[in-house]
Amino acid sequence: MTAGGRVAVVTGGGAGIGRAIAERLADDGFKVAVIDIDAAATDDTASSIGKAGGTARAYRADVSDRGQVDSALAAIRTDLGPVAVVVANAAIARQQPFLDMTAEQWDRTLAINLTGTFNVVQSALSDLVGAGWGRVVLISSSSAQRGAPRMAHYAASKGGQMGLAKALAVEFAKAGVTVNTVAPSSIDTPSVRKKRETGAIPSAEEMAKFIPVGRTGTGEDIAAAVSYLVSDEASYVTGQTVSVNGGSFIG
Ligand SMILES: NC(=O)c1ccc[n+]([C@@H]2O[C@H](COP(=O)([O-])OP(=O)(O)OC[C@H]3O[C@@H](n4cnc5c(N)ncnc54)[C@H](O)[C@@H]3O)[C@@H](O)[C@H]2O)c1
Repeated sequence: MTAGGRVAVVTGGGAGIGRAIAERLADDGFKVAVIDIDAAATDDTASSIGKAGGTARAYRADVSDRGQVDSALAAIRTDLGPVAVVVANAAIARQQPFLDMTAEQWDRTLAINLTGTFNVVQSALSDLVGAGWGRVVLISSSSAQRGAPRMAHYAASKGGQMGLAKALAVEFAKAGVTVNTVAPSSIDTPSVRKKRETGAIPSAEEMAKFIPVGRTGTGEDIAAAVSYLVSDEASYVTGQTVSVNGGSFIG
């Protein structure tokens, strides 16, 4: 692995899976730019990476707002240098029965999860193409592979990321840029734990009974897959979905 001080942008890096990815890429030797809508959480991730001996900077931005994304990317280039790796992880995952779903709820989920991905990838991509080397990883979801009740907007946005990754993978293959998705399932993060507390989803113990490896996943499980996909060794892997799901939903 040769991160060699390359710059990696991680969106939604203030919490959960995004934070684990930011920490892992810093451990791998990347200079990490953490983007999140939650300024305090972003600062906390960056300062904890700094205390652990890594390099990270925090940038507050709403990924659905192109102006905020472009400003964050401009600041990142000034502070850390050109971007080499983009991990689009920021998302919302609301539950709403389809027949009650409003157009506003649909639009907001698509705006953050899919257009937010478009915004950050398009804003950064000229750096990757200019260097002749780059890695893009989109954090999708198993819900796009097998559906999820009361989450039609979310599943559609996550399926959109998979199509986007495939299109970009072929468009930029000759430019030395790979584009892949990671599809997590049942990952124990603070937002998932909050949903469990309200009874919106089953307990970790209950879920583990239906996961072949017998446990729910961690942010570190996802970060390990991302670490491989952004490495030099992964140059022949593009347009793929890596499903990190404990053996669930095979087929
Ligand atoms: N946790 C799971 O079981 C699971 C399963 C499948 C897929 N995923 C995917 O993994 C990713 C991370 O999930 P998580 O559980 O860590 O989520 P989370 O809710 O714990 O964290 C998401 C982060 O994104 C940030 N964010 C939200 N909206 C934003 C916006 N508009 N602009 C910038 N930042 C914003 C939040 O502030 C938060 O820090 C998401 O893409 C999610 O769809 C998670």
